[in-house]
Amino acid sequence: MRKNIILVILVASILVVGCMGDSGDHDRGHGHGQDRGHGHGDGEGLKMHYYMNRCRSVSVEKTVKDIVWSKVDADPSMAAKLLRLHYHDCFVRGCDGSILLDPTQNTTTEKTAGPNRSISGYEVIDEIKTKLEAQCPGIVSCADIVALTARDAVSFQFKREMWPVFTGRKDGRVSLASDVGGNLPSANANFTTLLTQFGTKGLNLNDLVILSGAHTIGISHCTLVSRRLYNFTGQGDADPSLDPAYAQTLRKLCPNPVNPTTVLEMDPNSSITFDSDYYRALNQHKGLFVSDAALLTNQRSALVAKVLENPSIFFAQFARSMVKMGGVEVLLGGQGEVRKNCRVVNGQ
Ligand code: HEM
Ligand SMILES: *[C@@H]1O[C@H](CO)[C@@H](O)[C@H](O)[C@H]1NC(C)=O
Ligand SMILES: *[C@@H]1O[C@H](CO)[C@@H](O)[C@H](O)[C@H]1NC(C)=O
Ligand SMILES: *[C@@H]1O[C@H](CO)[C@@H](O)[C@H](O)[C@H]1NC(C)=O
Ligand SMILES: *[C@@H]1O[C@H](CO)[C@@H](O)[C@H](O)[C@H]1NC(C)=O
Ligand SMILES: *[C@@H]1O[C@H](CO)[C@@H](O)[C@H](O)[C@H]1NC(C)=O
Repeated sequence: MRKNIILVILVASILVVGCMGDSGDHDRGHGHGQDRGHGHGDGEGLKMHYYMNRCRSVSVEKTVKDIVWSKVDADPSMAAKLLRLHYHDCFVRGCDGSILLDPTQNTTTEKTAGPNRSISGYEVIDEIKTKLEAQCPGIVSCADIVALTARDAVSFQFKREMWPVFTGRKDGRVSLASDVGGNLPSANANFTTLLTQFGTKGLNLNDLVILSGAHTIGISHCTLVSRRLYNFTGQGDADPSLDPAYAQTLRKLCPNPVNPTTVLEMDPNSSITFDSDYYRALNQHKGLFVSDAALLTNQRSALVAKVLENPSIFFAQFARSMVKMGGVEVLLGGQGEVRKNCRVVNGQ
């Protein structure tokens, strides 16, 4: 309890800094808690409003926000796409924009790998990049655009910044489809695997439980749950950890044999609204993936119960965990470049 209060205060102070507007560079490594990830590229060198004095009178963050809000306004499903894009970027080679690179003659990039299925929103990033290149050429990295975009996409619903985004990331020059498999958790991952995979990114148990709450918005392909619905142990059965009535609802939405293009909403009640209902669903055994249901196992129901009791814990912790995720293995200074076109490395 006491720990939670401290946490809320911590996040509140981060948010205050985040809402101070163009008031100067705040080094992100200062006074924001100890839980920032480990080792190389843990985001310590990122700054608040890094671009403020780097683009004359242009407000980079406002340009991003205006475009994202208009896109999400026109198509609310875009919020989930843009949030997921940032997660996938950060989990494979760090938040370095490598998810954006198109395949070349020689390489199959991250976006061509299996889990790319519902990844989209690339054209929104392109539009922002084009506008920023016109206003302030060669300065704003694609990785930062992705990070800001994820925040703004979720924030549209609330009309305020839901978490601070520290900036100054550089773009990577490498993107390999073969990197995706081992780094991105699968929908069928068990608790141990999830914890290990998050751990390798410097993210802990709380981050796993809270960031999974992103599944309060968006859609999934039926193929990713078909095993749970129709053939869990290979005997033509459903996953017993899934609520039987809900399994029946899902089978209607995803008839067998499952059509690879059919999708369903992940939050049973409100897949457009970013809220804490994900935990209510989990608690009712209506989490969609094995990876969701896994969070009810082990000691984890404790945090789920806390969020159910006090939904504001979710928003505060989500903000904190997004800051951490946004710092995973970032490239700083000469470690990377600022791409001119987010889809290709410079000089190609
Ligand atoms: C814990 C491990 C995670 C697993 C196993 C997982 C798995 C998945 C899967 C299988 C889908 C459906 C994709 C499809 O049908 O193509 C999905 C969708 C989504 N995921 Fe996750 N995810 C995880 C964590 C996260 C995190 C950390 C975030 C963001 C902070 C996130 C955000 C989303 C969003 C927003 C969608 C909906 C995308 C859309 O509507 O297009 N996920 N996830
Ligand atoms: C791609 O392959 C071509 C032909 O094999 C080669 O000339 C070129 O240098 C390669 N480019 C990269 C980036 O490896
Ligand atoms: C996504 O992955 C599938 C399967 O690996 C592949 O066939 C498809 O071309 C990829 N899509 C894109 C846009 O790269
Ligand atoms: C979790 O999954 C991994 C990889 O599939 C497997 O090696 C491990 O035995 C599983 N752990 C448990 C506790 O089921
Ligand atoms: C169910 O799974 C088993 C084992 O993976 C497989 O042999 C069988 O063909 C599957 N049945 C169906 C209907 O997909
Ligand atoms: C969905 O809405 C119903 C009716 O308001 C409510 O009882 C249920 O708990 C909700 N389920 C989730 C997962 O939020």
